[in-house]
Amino acid sequence: MIVSPTREALIAGAQALQQGRLVAFPTETVYGLGANAQSSEAVQSIYAIKGRPSTNPLIVHVPDVEAIYPLVTLTDATEHRLLILARFWPGPLTVVLPADCRATAPEVRAGGTTVACRIPNHPAALDLLKAAQVPVAAPSANRSNNVSPTTAAHVAEEFGNQSPLILDGGSCTVGLESTVLAIHTPRPTILRPGFITKEILEEALGEPVACSYPSYSPGTPALSPGMSSRHYSPRTTLKFRSDVTHQDLQGIRYGQIRFSGEAGSDPFPPPAQDCLLSPTGDLTDVAARLYDALRALDQEPLDLILIDSCEATGLGSAVMDRLSRAVRRG
Ligand code: TXA
Ligand code: MG
Repeated sequence: MIVSPTREALIAGAQALQQGRLVAFPTETVYGLGANAQSSEAVQSIYAIKGRPSTNPLIVHVPDVEAIYPLVTLTDATEHRLLILARFWPGPLTVVLPADCRATAPEVRAGGTTVACRIPNHPAALDLLKAAQVPVAAPSANRSNNVSPTTAAHVAEEFGNQSPLILDGGSCTVGLESTVLAIHTPRPTILRPGFITKEILEEALGEPVACSYPSYSPGTPALSPGMSSRHYSPRTTLKFRSDVTHQDLQGIRYGQIRFSGEAGSDPFPPPAQDCLLSPTGDLTDVAARLYDALRALDQEPLDLILIDSCEATGLGSAVMDRLSRAVRRG
């Protein structure tokens, strides 16, 4: 059921969470599928409905920095970093720290000893978290490996008649999942790139930030099979525009997603569907509209979706990280 985040709906959502049920809610990045992070049973139901491997831990959402303290164990050095990073909250940043294992169900951490924490920047999410008065474990509200949802309708599309209560907060403004940053390691380390970029984090922290995800560009070979989990994928085959030739497009119905209005130099036959994310090639708009465009073209009877690529720096790292996992090579 999709409902507006009225006072009554938020109270009903908070009660549902307290009673161990799931609630889908908007954030600035993507919609989340929330459960009481203190309840093993509630958290297990997230893994079950998503079809998510039990080895992949969840992010815990809280309404303010004070609410992170009980979830983690801090040293002076990690607390120093945490307090610097507080300037990005509420916002699209998740930090990973050693957990106080009494504060969350082990399933949240996939049995591990660290916990990922985030304060989302959306009024409905913050109101829900305040009213719930429990930490809320929430992955993106899609079935495992599918494209993350950026509208309430996307969430309903994913779960059909299994849908939980869905709070409708409109379209997500950022459109890509949060940056995940480990801050207990000798160097702060980005585990997943996002809107808060390496460059921004280095500037704020005043120290080098490492990246533990592979950096991709079109034309490079596929990742080793173990690493190339099909994530963020539409059902229709998705390829980078630069990975196909005119020949590949003969006699097929293809759709294209362009990042900018600039005409491509490739003399491709006209596409059956054409989707422009930003007339000026602004990556903020590309990120915000990307998942909706992938879902929209995936609904069309197409043999192939072609997508632009961009340089993997700044916000482009996050865009290329998601796309490289979604495309099929060769
Ligand atoms: O923007 C977001 O982060 C969204 C919204 C709903 O907040 N959530 C989201 O959750 O993208 P999910 O489950 O789709 O992705 C969580 C990511 C995964 O890559 C997971 O492996 C990583 O965070 N993660 C969670 N806990 C971790 C931990 N303790 N250590 C390392 N990585 C962790
Ligand atoms: Mg996800």
